[in-house]
Amino acid sequence: MSRRNILVTNALPYANGPIHLGHLLGYIQADIWVRFQRMQGNNCTYVCADDAHGTGIMLSAEKAGVSPEEFIDAVNQEHQRDFADFLVDFDIYHSTHSDENKTFSSLIYERCKASGHISQRSITQLYDPEKDLFLSDRFIKGQCPKCKTEDQYGDNCEVCSSTYNATDLINPRSTISGATPVEKESTHFFFKLPAFADFLNEWTRSGTLPTQVANKLAEWLDSGLQEWDISRDAPYFGFEIPGEPGKYFYVWLDAPIGYMASFQKLCESRDDLNFEDYWGVESNNELWHFIGKDIINFHALFWPAMLKTSNFRTPTGISVNGFLTVNGQKMSKSRGTFIMAETYKQHLNPEYLRYYFAGKLGSNPDDLDLNLEDFVQRVNSDVVGKVVNIASRCAGFINKGFEGKLSAEVSEPDLIADCQQTTTEIAELYEQREFSKAIRLIMSLADKANQYIADKTPWVLAKENPQALEVQNICSTGLNLFRLLIIYLKPVLPNLANQVEEFLNVSALQWQDAESLLLDHQINKFKPLMTRVESTKVDAMVEASKENLNTQENSSVDASDKVDSPLSNDPISDEIEFPDFAKVDLRIAKIVEANYVEGADKLLKITLDLGLNAAGEQQIRTVFSGIKSAYKPEQLNGMYTVLVANLKSRKMKFGVSEGMILAAGEGDDIYLLEPHKGAQAGLRIT
Ligand code: 2FM
Ligand code: ZN
Repeated sequence: MSRRNILVTNALPYANGPIHLGHLLGYIQADIWVRFQRMQGNNCTYVCADDAHGTGIMLSAEKAGVSPEEFIDAVNQEHQRDFADFLVDFDIYHSTHSDENKTFSSLIYERCKASGHISQRSITQLYDPEKDLFLSDRFIKGQCPKCKTEDQYGDNCEVCSSTYNATDLINPRSTISGATPVEKESTHFFFKLPAFADFLNEWTRSGTLPTQVANKLAEWLDSGLQEWDISRDAPYFGFEIPGEPGKYFYVWLDAPIGYMASFQKLCESRDDLNFEDYWGVESNNELWHFIGKDIINFHALFWPAMLKTSNFRTPTGISVNGFLTVNGQKMSKSRGTFIMAETYKQHLNPEYLRYYFAGKLGSNPDDLDLNLEDFVQRVNSDVVGKVVNIASRCAGFINKGFEGKLSAEVSEPDLIADCQQTTTEIAELYEQREFSKAIRLIMSLADKANQYIADKTPWVLAKENPQALEVQNICSTGLNLFRLLIIYLKPVLPNLANQVEEFLNVSALQWQDAESLLLDHQINKFKPLMTRVESTKVDAMVEASKENLNTQENSSVDASDKVDSPLSNDPISDEIEFPDFAKVDLRIAKIVEANYVEGADKLLKITLDLGLNAAGEQQIRTVFSGIKSAYKPEQLNGMYTVLVANLKSRKMKFGVSEGMILAAGEGDDIYLLEPHKGAQAGLRIT
């Protein structure tokens, strides 16, 4: 098969603060894919950069008492260090504040303008008269116009979820100076996104995006696209718009162009790479963007439209990751679960995290929970207990009894063949970014290998005769199985693989090495490869993250005024009239019994007490609820919850469900709704 030429980009982190574990999820995901492609023999180039522009960074630099350039340079160094620590192997790590990016941003803007896709008009915005600065919604707070809660941002209320314009806030103030904002007009430039509706309708459904994402985007596309404001007024840290003094490109205009700029910069030092081959409209090479689900609109709407009209190629595919939660909840500074890459590194081996993420990552943008207990357990039982253990059980006998020489034949050809043949399936799973499935398969092979060694008990045989050929055969078979597992795990655990290459005395393992075996081969002395995760270190990391609290909060001004994304939360559904809502009879109900349902994967059978009816009879209901992944029956007994009492009964496979209880979330993160203490069973919710 011919080698593929692939360019991979990762979302560019803001040059405004440290890398944390939430960031790392997306970078580790992309890095695993890149390493897999390289092991396959494909030419895979991997670029990234800091996203260095915007009001947030300008203000952070000011606060730190340095120029924005000095500020972003220091952050760039830190980011590069963190990525290197977590073995994220970029070919280049550049910055959007670069000559290359300025050139491409201007070029793309000029081409958009030449094709008639830029408009300009005057708009009114809130302005900080003390700071002499237009204020984006993020920098304005005030009282919610609907529920009157204090201290709400300029675009939506965190308490009642209503959205509004910043000008509607009661008693608005600038969060920068505290001044009362005034309204002021200025000319802005817009990208005419609606002109690309047909193109985007097709492009977003052409297999470039995970189906789940394409479906969400379809909702956006169906509700109509709007022109995109691509300019900001001075003072702004960014690039001035050509021919428009005092007007700057909005950070999100030049951010994705940073992918091109980084690649261009790399081309200057690499003879094998050519810009046009990857970005030219005729390019047959692959271009993959790895991003988080909060920035889909920028990458799957604005970006392809801009590329299209400025005569560059569009991406082959976009891989989207979900958010990271820790112990089932949003990362939290007070709980010590807002963990910085650097803090993690001081306590734990980065490869543990790479393995844990890989074990839970799929190709869909589902959120991923880092459960710290599960983390310890899984890494110890899989990597240390199942994989590394094979080598530590076998190596000593080979080194001692046979001067480090592996036997000329393996003793269990079927098992070896099974392990070798699975290579295609594992490769396909990596290719599709179904890492958790690949890991499961690899671990099932590791189980077989361990079983083999346990059955053969080489330690018993070696006690009788340490030089028995059978001992050499069994342990050589074990080490060959180990080598195959390491090949399959190398994209995830590259350092471990490097240590194993040294121990097995082989050159850098490639994917196709799985076709061959190590026979009659001299290995080196075995050194411990990876130690167990210690819970005390995890606890220490959490403690240290709590200590970080002040420093982090002081430096946390977000970098951009990015718009809400369609997937950060499910969009609020269409408005309904009150009478429609009033048709739903919601009641407080007490759970009097909960049971597993034989044969059901997700359901629990729940018996509810709804209090007495008008005739004084006890009302009991049975519902089947899909909450088994999150609750054990015994946890539910005695709990109060909310029942949709007038929902038509439904006949299900396991019985009739008389109503529905209310819960939020999905998977492991399902939360049953509970009323405030004291609510009686049967009360109607009004
Ligand atoms: O959301 C963010 O963190 C942005 N800095 C990502 C930019 S990705 C690309 F477009 F540059
Ligand atoms: Zn409100």
